[in-house]
This record gives sequence, C-alpha cells and structure tokens, in this order.
Amino acid sequence: MIANEIRKKFISFFTASPRNHQEIPSASLIPENDPSSLFTSSGMQPLITNLLGEKHPLGTRLVDSQKCFRSQDIEEVGDNSHTTFFEMLGNWSLGDYFKKEQLPWNFKFLTEELKLDPKRLYVTVFEGNPSVPKDTVSIEIWKEIFAGAGIRALEGERIFAYPAQKNWWSRSGEPEKMPPGEPGGPDSEVFFDFGEKLHLHERSIYAKEKCHPNCGGGRFMEIANSVFMQYQKMPDGMLKELPQKNVDFGGGLERMAAATNDNPDIFQTDLFSEIIATIEKVTGKEYSNESNKPAIRIIADHLKAATFMAAEGLEPGNKQQGYVLRRLLRRATVKLRFLTNTSPDMEQFQPIVESVLHAYKGTTYFDKVNSQAIEKIIGPELLKFTKSLDKGLKEVQKISQISGKIAFDLYQTFGFPLEITAELFAQKGQQIDRQQFEAEFRKHQELSRTTAKGVFKGGLADHSEKTTALHTATHLLQQALKNILNYAVRQKGSHITAERLRFDFSYPQKLTPEKLQKVEALVNQKIKENLPVTMEIMTLNEAIKSGASTVPGAHYPEKVKVYTIQGFSKEVCGGPHADFTGRLGSFKIIKEEAAGTENRRIYASLTS
Ligand code: ALA
Repeated sequence: MIANEIRKKFISFFTASPRNHQEIPSASLIPENDPSSLFTSSGMQPLITNLLGEKHPLGTRLVDSQKCFRSQDIEEVGDNSHTTFFEMLGNWSLGDYFKKEQLPWNFKFLTEELKLDPKRLYVTVFEGNPSVPKDTVSIEIWKEIFAGAGIRALEGERIFAYPAQKNWWSRSGEPEKMPPGEPGGPDSEVFFDFGEKLHLHERSIYAKEKCHPNCGGGRFMEIANSVFMQYQKMPDGMLKELPQKNVDFGGGLERMAAATNDNPDIFQTDLFSEIIATIEKVTGKEYSNESNKPAIRIIADHLKAATFMAAEGLEPGNKQQGYVLRRLLRRATVKLRFLTNTSPDMEQFQPIVESVLHAYKGTTYFDKVNSQAIEKIIGPELLKFTKSLDKGLKEVQKISQISGKIAFDLYQTFGFPLEITAELFAQKGQQIDRQQFEAEFRKHQELSRTTAKGVFKGGLADHSEKTTALHTATHLLQQALKNILNYAVRQKGSHITAERLRFDFSYPQKLTPEKLQKVEALVNQKIKENLPVTMEIMTLNEAIKSGASTVPGAHYPEKVKVYTIQGFSKEVCGGPHADFTGRLGSFKIIKEEAAGTENRRIYASLTS
C-alpha cells in the first residue's frame, strides 16, 4: 500500500463516526514555545499542555500525521528500519476514551483498513513495577480482540509483558529518567511478524535465541504504540495520577507501509523508493548490492531530514538545531564521497533534494517552498564541506596515527565532527583516542567560557521568549530607521517590558505618518524573510571596524558580542536574541514622540 493511502485512511478512520476525531495539522519540526527540546520527535509533543489538562480548542479527540525528527537515532540509520526523520500517525484521547476503545480501534485499523493478517500481529504490555501495577486490563482486552479474529491469544505466545524499559513511554524514557512535570505512562505496542526466515537472516547473533517481539532479531517490527498517559513525575520523584486519563497513540507511517508491503525494508516503501532510485542514478551505485545499502540509506535519510528542516527556514550553523542540520549534511556528503570515490557536487545533491519533494507530493509539507529555496539554504554548506573534506582527506593521508588531538584539530579546522572522523579512520583501520579528543574539547569549551565571561553584560535581565523577541525587533527597528530616514540614527536609550519595546534615537524632527508606516513595513518584511541572527565575539575595535553599531557613551569591555541579522543589521549588544527573525510575529509601532529636544522615542509591540 502506498503511504499517501495509509495516511488518508488513518485520518478518515478516526474522523469518521463513531470515533469522531478532529484532524489537526502537523506542527513544525522545530517546536514552538518548548526550549526543552530541539525538534518535534513525537506526535504528542505539541499537545503536552493538553495532556496535562489544558483544554484543546478542537475538543478531546484529535488525530494527525506529524513530521518528526529523532537525532538520537542518527547512529542507527543504515539498517532497514531506522530513520532520523519520519512521520508519526497519531490519535489522542484527552481525558475521553481509554483502553477498551483504543485497543480495539487500533486493531480494527490495522486489520480492516490496512488489511494486515491478524495472525501476524503480536502485542506487548507493561509488566508493572512497585508503583504501577501490571497492565492486566490491556491483556484481557487483547485476549478478547484476538478471540474475535479466531485467535487464542496466550500470554507468552501472542501477548508479552515487559518492564518499563520496553513498555513505558515518556519523552525521556522510563519513570526514573523523567524530569519533574513530565507526563508518561505504560504502553501497549503492536508488532508485525515478517517471518521466521528473517530472524535467522538479518542479525544472526540472535539466531539461536527463542524469538519474541522485543528480541531485536529483525523478525518483528513495532508498528503501533498506544500510550496510556495517566501519570506525571513529581519533584519528589514519585509518580502522580494526572487529573485525566489520556491515550497517546503513535505509529510510524514508514513502518506501517513496510508491513503492508510485507517487506521489512522501509527504504523500499514509496516514501523512499524514488529518493533511493535518484541516489542510484547520481552515484551509479546499486541499492540491491548489500555493501552499498547502509551508505545509500544514510544519504537518503539525512538529505530527506535536511530538506524538511531547510523547508522550515532552518539554516546550518554551529548551535542547536542548525548544528544538527550541519551534521546531517556533512555526514551525507561523507557517505556520498566514499560511495563514489569522487567529490560530490550540486549535480548530485540537487536531484536528490528534488526527489524528496516529489516523494511527498501528496502532502502539504512543501506547499510554501520550492526546491530552489531549499537548495539555496543547504547548497553552500554542502559545497563548502565538500572542499573541506577534500583538503582534510589529503591531510589525513599524511598522518599515520590519529591522536585525539589531531581528531580535535580536524574538528576545528575542517569541521569534521568526531563521529565522522571516527568513521573515516575506521575505513583505514585506525582508531581514535576518544578520551584525548574529549579532553581537548573540554579545554576548548573552558576557554570559550572564560572568553565569554569578559563579554559585555548589557543584555536583558529577563530572558523570556517575548522580551527576547522584542530585543531583536529593536535591532530591526534601528536599522529600518537608518534606511528609511536616510540618517545616521544613533541609539539613545532602550527599554523593554514583556508587552512592548521603547527605543530612543537621535533625529531632529517628528517622523511623518508616512515614514513611520515605511519603517514598520520594512521591519515586518525582515521578519517575514526569517533571517538568521548570529553572534560573534570580538574586540571592540574589530566590532567598530566591521561596521557594528554601538551606543554612544556606553562603557564597553575589551571583548564584545556582535549580533548580526543576516544582510541587514549589525550591533554590539549583550543579547540574548531570537535565532531567526521569523520567530518575532507581527511588528506594530504604537506611538512616536519627542524625547528631549534632539531625540525621538518610538513605542512598538509584537503580536503573534
Ligand atoms: N508518543 C508515543 C511514541 O512516540 C506514542 O511512541
């Protein structure tokens, strides 16, 4: 079955009576208002507050298909079932229905809509721990469900109970790992049996073991997970029952498609087949050749994830999400380089990116961007790294022993993350001294922390998202005033509260309403362009030479932070700032008035 069909069937199955769910759109891959995680990694993430009890405007039954990214799975990519990017089909009960509705509906969807053979489905439940009992309720429900399909489901044969490590779900894993405030609960998973043959074939170390859903032998694949989200971790380490019992269901679309195709290789589903075919074409290497498979899978997964990130305006960088994007692009480049033994170029990258967009043509994910816009974001990074890679490889040829220090130099000079260096040298039979690398890394971190300590501390006292956004808006405003008034405006004062910004600047006369409108429009245009905001530390002299604005009369230390809003503004400032202007919302000038005889004052706000 093709993925588009599965996605559609899932949404209509849950929106139809008697289930009556409301469909919600996929949230962004980069979570809004959640600084605790870099990426949306499960369908429930945008609904956390609702799972904790806040009312959702669309009610208590929701369904969607959510774009997800799990960076922790990066090392696993290369086998037949792991990816960093995937789509999660999800349905939720926010204090509405519970186990006795969820499990039969899930089974009905898998067997009647996807037409999976019930005999090939195996289920797991939570075996209990000292604070949460064994999930015997789910066991009884599953027995009844299977009996309805003419199958006698015994515990240990078709229904398996596992400890928290396998059958407890929260964003951070089992109960001990949950931070205070985090919701979680026992779960019940459905596995698809791809057949005995596979158990022996894919991972032969398991060949002698008796196979069971979680044995990891490659025969069973988890395709559905119903989490009974009814607990919250308390600051004293205990689990407390939430005021409402929720269902949080998630199933990987790629894996469901693999099950319907009766082929455990998710890279052979239509969500990948075209991308793989394109990689085969641009590299001249066949996917059917087992030795090419891991590299081709990594290239396909990483460039797909990178394409989705760039489509949301994320740029490769040195921090947070930008750094993850950079790693994906660099790792894909390394794999391409070694697959073909030549330097990759845009003639290879471009068709791959286009094939990603094509694979999702049945969705709205890429409605607002085209492949050129995406290539503009990731192209320069890919090309720059390709050059670095060539240079770095030449250097490496000259070295016979890779010490941790050399690995660190490669990291600093050529941008080779340690894991890439490790992969490169593993191919030459060399091993890196990780401890030494980490010691160098820590030394470097210590150094940058000490540098940062001497940095201008004129930043915001309040680091909330709202004040940070207003702070960045102040930089946009200053530059917009310079451009529109065509005057060397200097900052004379700035004051930010959670509601508004106030900016005082040198200008000899009242601003006309027409000029104010133009300033406002220019700021909004720059917000819309979603420009990255980056920071560099340099000496005050270097900052002034680089054209950064300063505040007249302010006392600066020797080293300062310079914030650049790409292609638009540069200012010496203590920060913090939004990482992209797109996060600011809509900018509105509230008032313009005199501030003394030579200066003007503007009040402005941001609305989302
Ligand atoms: N939130 C659950 C998961 O990600 C459904 O598996």
